[in-house]
Amino acid sequence: MTQLSPARKPAAGATAEPAAKPANKESTKSLYGGTSSRRITVRDIAAAKERGEKWPMLTAYDAMTASVFDESGIPVLLVGDSMGNCHLGYESTVPVTMDEITILSAAVVRGTKRALVVADLPFGAYQEGPVQALRNATRLVKDAGVGAVKLEGGERSAHQVELLVSSGIPVMAHVGLTPQSVHAYGGYPVQGRGEEAAQQLLRDAKAVQDAGAFSVVLEAVPAELAAEVTRSLHIPTVGIGAGLDCDAQVLVWTDMAGLTAGRVPRFVKQYLQMRELLGGAARAFAEDVVGGAFPAEEHTFH
Ligand code: KIV
Repeated sequence: MTQLSPARKPAAGATAEPAAKPANKESTKSLYGGTSSRRITVRDIAAAKERGEKWPMLTAYDAMTASVFDESGIPVLLVGDSMGNCHLGYESTVPVTMDEITILSAAVVRGTKRALVVADLPFGAYQEGPVQALRNATRLVKDAGVGAVKLEGGERSAHQVELLVSSGIPVMAHVGLTPQSVHAYGGYPVQGRGEEAAQQLLRDAKAVQDAGAFSVVLEAVPAELAAEVTRSLHIPTVGIGAGLDCDAQVLVWTDMAGLTAGRVPRFVKQYLQMRELLGGAARAFAEDVVGGAFPAEEHTFH
């Protein structure tokens, strides 16, 4: 079992300060390990790209888990529509609603002090056009308090990105494998293989950059192509199953922590076996109750 290394573990009772201490003055600005405790903004993300700094992003769906990641110094938290599979018990991201994303995004914002919170626009919340996208993104910014939204699609979503950005809402785009299209794909296939598909992926990434996106997720893309996209853009790429050369890396937190049941995609690294640990704790509690060992004297009022 792989555990978090001690250097990355938050101290008991830690505050919103990142656990890692900066090695020099320059690194006080770092997205991960920097000393600033104000909210990260999209300007900080742009500055990191200029410095060539890599950064981590995790998903979060509730206030308590988000506070752990925030205290650990994760600079960007995504309230992803992966909440469909990982939190709400759906089979895909497709059924997730604006109400669900809004409530959980507000919880993640309340649980954090430093992280930039990005919320996904769920399937059906922006495909009708830019005005629908603006109406729903506005709700996430005003009602949930997020600092940015994410939506899927390259050229096909460029008009939506343009209106949101010109209205003052930062947008993280998402190209390559876009899970909201699972029914069209018939699964979750790697994207961008072959010359034509690779050229389309490059056009998609450039289209969202030109429309004003501050970053772009590249999902399930060959590493060589992701590296080429990263070199061609001035906004950061956030890889998931896209190799080492992206500017940032994102994982779904339940995959990263080993809470997800069954097989996880090849691109996932599990840093904890949380499902096993939590199950063990639940069984120990049950055995104490059945055997009369809980509550003990110290848990009892007189
Ligand atoms: O919803 C999500 O978690 C995502 C990430 C996989 C990028 O879109």
